[in-house]
Amino acid sequence: MSESKVILITGANSGVGYATAETIVCQPGYHVILACRDIEKGNQARFKLEATNIKGTLSVLQLDVEDDTSISKAVNLVSEQFGRVDVFISNAGTTSPGSTGRERLQKIFSTNVFGAMLVTEAFIPLLLQSSRPYLIQISSALGSVGLATDPSSEHSLPPWDEYRMSKAALNMMTIQMNKRLKDKNVRVFAFCPGLVRSKLRGDSEAAVTAQGNAGDPMDSAKAILEIVSGQRDEDAGKFVWIEGCYPW
Ligand SMILES: NC(=O)c1ccc[n+]([C@@H]2O[C@H](COP(=O)([O-])OP(=O)(O)OC[C@H]3O[C@@H](n4cnc5c(N)ncnc54)[C@H](OP(=O)(O)O)[C@@H]3O)[C@@H](O)[C@H]2O)c1
Repeated sequence: MSESKVILITGANSGVGYATAETIVCQPGYHVILACRDIEKGNQARFKLEATNIKGTLSVLQLDVEDDTSISKAVNLVSEQFGRVDVFISNAGTTSPGSTGRERLQKIFSTNVFGAMLVTEAFIPLLLQSSRPYLIQISSALGSVGLATDPSSEHSLPPWDEYRMSKAALNMMTIQMNKRLKDKNVRVFAFCPGLVRSKLRGDSEAAVTAQGNAGDPMDSAKAILEIVSGQRDEDAGKFVWIEGCYPW
């Protein structure tokens, strides 16, 4: 059993997941499991992180949230190696750039909703082995029904329909999981990282930077570290962002 806190991050090789891994592993007392669908990308992320000033430890885990066999193998490995997960960060997500119609809907829901739900459910028994468990679903303000229906909100503007729908479903899932898990001592959060640089919207410079509007994923990661280190406990059960809470 690891004495460090065991943090598992899905989609940890890139963007918000990578920044979160870096921020947490640069603190002492954490073991970060980089859970990645492509083990090579996971290993590259690990080498890059180990070349920085890390104070914790790292491992890489093959985990495709759309593949049930991959999920069950990953659960078994973590169970054997650590016997628990202290913080589960369900971060893997997509906007399925370049696709359209049914294919786009299927891909976005397969990753952001079905994948997030099934991988989280599979790891909940290991979370319940922790003395202080946290479950963080990486959502988006674009999934907030409250903001989408508020004409004064910048988040009510039209695009990204399929992605918004997937994050609204993820939020409902988080609400339901919180009802079930809060009495078992699990602090459950939906978290919006804000508009930040990543390949979520595609690989071009314009897509990565959201036409120059995207911020630094390290700022999102610092807020996730605040959650993990207990500084946002009063917001457990809520939809949080860096500076406060959003309506569901
Ligand atoms: N960036 C933003 O502005 C923003 C804003 C709000 C919310 N978010 C949310 O933040 C989360 C992270 O996104 P990001 O911006 O960091 O984008 P990103 O750089 O594209 O990272 C997404 C990660 O998810 C992984 N992934 C995709 N499908 C997967 C699957 N089936 N199984 C396992 N991993 C999978 C990707 O792996 P590969 O590298 O193998 O593709 C990648 O590691 C997402 O949930 C996203 O919706 C981002």
